[in-house]
Amino acid sequence: MIITVGNTKGGVGKTTIAVNLAVEATRDGKKVLLVDTDPQGSSMAFRAEREIDDIKAITLVSDKLHKDIKEISTAFDWIIIDAGGRDNAVFRSAVAACNFFLLPVLPSQFDIWAAEDAIKAFKEIQPFNDMSGRLVLNMVRPNTTVCHEAREALKTYQEIIPLLHGQLHNRVAYKASISNGLGVSEYEPSGKAAEDMKNFYQELLQTIS
Ligand SMILES: Nc1ncnc2c1ncn2[C@@H]1O[C@H](COP(=O)(O)OP(=O)(O)O)[C@@H](O)[C@H]1O
Ligand SMILES: [Mg+2]
Repeated sequence: MIITVGNTKGGVGKTTIAVNLAVEATRDGKKVLLVDTDPQGSSMAFRAEREIDDIKAITLVSDKLHKDIKEISTAFDWIIIDAGGRDNAVFRSAVAACNFFLLPVLPSQFDIWAAEDAIKAFKEIQPFNDMSGRLVLNMVRPNTTVCHEAREALKTYQEIIPLLHGQLHNRVAYKASISNGLGVSEYEPSGKAAEDMKNFYQELLQTIS
């Protein structure tokens, strides 16, 4: 399974979600490779901080990723691609490389508009690929009006890329854990972020299968 966590907009939580997914899948017994295609290299920075050598990570800022990844992928159960930056050939290659495209969006109208580039890329590439995709709301403040409004607004894209039921809330544990090379479920196993992440991972497993 190749999962691309991508959005052409920065700061929406692509790296946070990619590395936490990598941790959840690893704890679930999967062999995971993190591929960082974002020149910012945040997923690699996470790997650099991680003391345990369970999650493998490489940087591949390549517009041929969709062609090269297939052979690499046989050595892993899950490949998680952290795809950021602009809507360029590297980003599109990362979308074309996956079986499942996960698009994190923040609950604001500006962020929804900004997600349209990535939604468009997914829509254009999907017919040529055997893949599905989902939006996921990140950094949500529970039960706020903006959150409900964002869910309504994202229904516009339901036919192209539906929204996951679960959402990730704004929690300090994400920042603190990543700088220690840990996922939230390792950093604070009984915390709220860990609970969110566990539910998110389970919903993802069901969606993918
Ligand atoms: N659910 C969350 N709760 C709190 N902070 C978050 C959450 N998701 C991401 N962040 C923080 O937001 C910032 C941007 O996240 P990051 O994963 O680096 O985004 P991207 O990779 O899309 O640029 C980081 O400082 C990160 O710690
Ligand atoms: Mg990033």
